[in-house]
Amino acid sequence: MRQSLESLSEDDREWLARIHAESENRSDLPDRVDQAIRVNQNFLYDLDRLIPAITRFPREDPEPAGAIAARVRLLPWAVAREWGSDFNSERELTYQPIYWKLKELLPAGAKVLVPGAGCCRLAYEIAARGFEVTAIEFDALKLLAAAQMFALGLESLQTEIRPYALETCNRMSASDNTRPIYVPDALMTDNALSRLTINGNEFVETARTMGSGEFDAVVTSFFMDTTTTSDLYMNKIIGLLKPGGWWINCGPFNYHYPSEKTVPLPPAQEPNVEEFMLNVTRHGFTVAERMEIDSTYMGNPSSMMQTKYRCLFFAAQFGQ
Ligand SMILES: C[S@@+](CC[C@H](N)C(=O)[O-])C[C@H]1O[C@@H](n2cnc3c(N)ncnc32)[C@H](O)[C@@H]1O
Repeated sequence: MRQSLESLSEDDREWLARIHAESENRSDLPDRVDQAIRVNQNFLYDLDRLIPAITRFPREDPEPAGAIAARVRLLPWAVAREWGSDFNSERELTYQPIYWKLKELLPAGAKVLVPGAGCCRLAYEIAARGFEVTAIEFDALKLLAAAQMFALGLESLQTEIRPYALETCNRMSASDNTRPIYVPDALMTDNALSRLTINGNEFVETARTMGSGEFDAVVTSFFMDTTTTSDLYMNKIIGLLKPGGWWINCGPFNYHYPSEKTVPLPPAQEPNVEEFMLNVTRHGFTVAERMEIDSTYMGNPSSMMQTKYRCLFFAAQFGQ
């Protein structure tokens, strides 16, 4: 970015400098981006200090450095999606129907599993509503971020991140990509946290070690499209549910897998909604509610580009 600016003619540079001098924000774009990157770096350094709090890094297939770098770069954005007020409406669209359904279907204290929990906001909110929650997430970076959010939230503190630092496309104004976001946007309680257990392993492997029929509900949010073999996920969900237990799902079928995995992936099934729902009933579920919810995912609200997913929401009861 700096090089591109320096390659401009003297005239053009003067003109740009004049525009910046006339706008509220007088520093130039590369400097502001540098500063935003430093804010993100500080956030990541703080997470680094939490590493001893995580018992083990779960991924057994080592990732190439490029894949890790991409996950680190996206982490502030993922944290903002779950813990920033910028993403409040995005979260409410798909999380609220899950809370309502759980409240309607299950008594307080019921056991809920949330696989693919990300930075654990949904899992925390379910625990805050009185349920006993187990979250499963294999991305240690997201779990570090979750641990940091809990530590800050308990103290009513916030930290600053600049998730859009490198997004120079689709800005409405000069400072859109460097604006700060403060996280977490929620106060937390020890009481709610005491009802949340976090498991930092892969879902299918973890399910093998859990007792069968342990949960009253399994909640999958933007998760069913993270596997090449959704049948395998479905079978594990069935194994973990009590008879009469509920599967609540919300998310699109935007199939995506770790692209740079060092172990080969099994061939992808990638069912469409019709096939998927037939499979749900074939596996012994009765679908009590089904609807579509349009929502962005990690959509920067101030961007000129918005991608909406048509999410499949359903609540289905097993074995009734
Ligand atoms: C698209 S994100 C959704 C996060 C969160 N549920 C939400 O609604 O915002 C999917 C998450 O699932 C995790 N994940 C994907 N496959 C997994 C697996 N097999 N076991 C555990 N976690 C997995 C990813 O690391 C990622 O954090």
